[in-house]
Amino acid sequence: MKNVGVAILGLGVVGSGTYKILRDHREFYRQTQGVDISVESVLEINKQKALALGIEESKISDNIAEVVSNPNVDIVVEVIGGVEPAKSFVLAALHSGKSVVTSNKELFCKYWHELERAAKRTNAGLYFEASCVGGVPIIRTLIDGMQANVITDLTGIINGTTNYILTRMTREGADYATVLKDAQALGYAEANPSADVEGYDAAYKLSILSSLAFHTKVPLDKVYREGISGIKAQDIAYGDELGYVLKLLAIGKNGGKGVEVRVHPAFIRKDHPLASVNDSFNAVYLKGDSVGDIMLYGRGAGDFPTGSAIVSDVIYAATHNDVKYATFKNGAQAEPGMKFITDFRSRYYIRFTAKDKAGVLAKVAGIFAKYNISIVDLIQKGEDCENIPIILITHETNEYSVRRALDKIAALEDVVSVDSMIRVEA
Ligand code: HSE
Repeated sequence: MKNVGVAILGLGVVGSGTYKILRDHREFYRQTQGVDISVESVLEINKQKALALGIEESKISDNIAEVVSNPNVDIVVEVIGGVEPAKSFVLAALHSGKSVVTSNKELFCKYWHELERAAKRTNAGLYFEASCVGGVPIIRTLIDGMQANVITDLTGIINGTTNYILTRMTREGADYATVLKDAQALGYAEANPSADVEGYDAAYKLSILSSLAFHTKVPLDKVYREGISGIKAQDIAYGDELGYVLKLLAIGKNGGKGVEVRVHPAFIRKDHPLASVNDSFNAVYLKGDSVGDIMLYGRGAGDFPTGSAIVSDVIYAATHNDVKYATFKNGAQAEPGMKFITDFRSRYYIRFTAKDKAGVLAKVAGIFAKYNISIVDLIQKGEDCENIPIILITHETNEYSVRRALDKIAALEDVVSVDSMIRVEA
């Protein structure tokens, strides 16, 4: 039987989960995969943490050079996160000809081209299933399950922290700050939550997923990004009255005229399959020209879910001699001539506060008409108040037209404030 040695860089939540899966399933993988996978080395400065997991002292190191030069190590698992020192460690492993398995979305989305170049030089494998949507096998689905298709749409809830926060705001009518505090106390959100709540984490993942789905490099700077920190409980409630649920969506489209990639909060109909993806769960919805619509659902984070994705890559690396790299020219930038659509089309939920006076709505409607924006629904809330909230939903229109119209509406004398603009996607 083939013996394969693994090194794990970092024994945090995901590294520890990965170690336990490999340790507890060793015999199972011998039987089902025909390979004996052993953890031969761990890079961890906290020796006690490694010893507490039952790792032999001789296999614990705090020196990356020692780990990557270990002849018993064939595959290096990087679960440190962030760019440095993870990048230098991954490159050191690839330069030594070791295959690398990583869960690091930020590193991968920013330096995929550089890592792939290094891997090709030594014919090493480079695997990243765990970088996107944790335990949900989306990368392998895109590479090995959907290759028959031209994929035109990818829509996902790919950040668990924000989905947890929005789910609780929806269920409880609670405001953002209160739920964020709870999410931090429960360990869902980090002490510095900005990577999640401002949409960076989802943007890293969308850059990777849309590159694979559309077979063209989609660099991070092409992803439009907006987070959830400005979301108000009252907009979630008004959306609910209109039949919508609010989610932080990652949207990739390739309709033939160019690629469109964006992460932002969006209303979706309550009967859309993504509407029932709640709490910290993730899901990705794909449209392929042959298969039609498919949806993958599961846990996007955590020790065992993300460990599951890592170990599946380890098994793949241990049992395949062929190495698959990106299907497109993998440079730092998009390929020359590649078009990205920034003036995308959507429907819009708009809330503004106006003086309760005759003629205000006519002026607002006139501005929308000037920008060729057609209104589907308009609701005036409150009675007998000086200032009243007005909510409207538009037909599909262009993003830039809406932004220009809202600037003009905000400048009207009888409009107190333009409070919210939320895209309505399905
Ligand atoms: N922090 C991420 C989330 C998990 O909340 O989904 C890792 O990407």
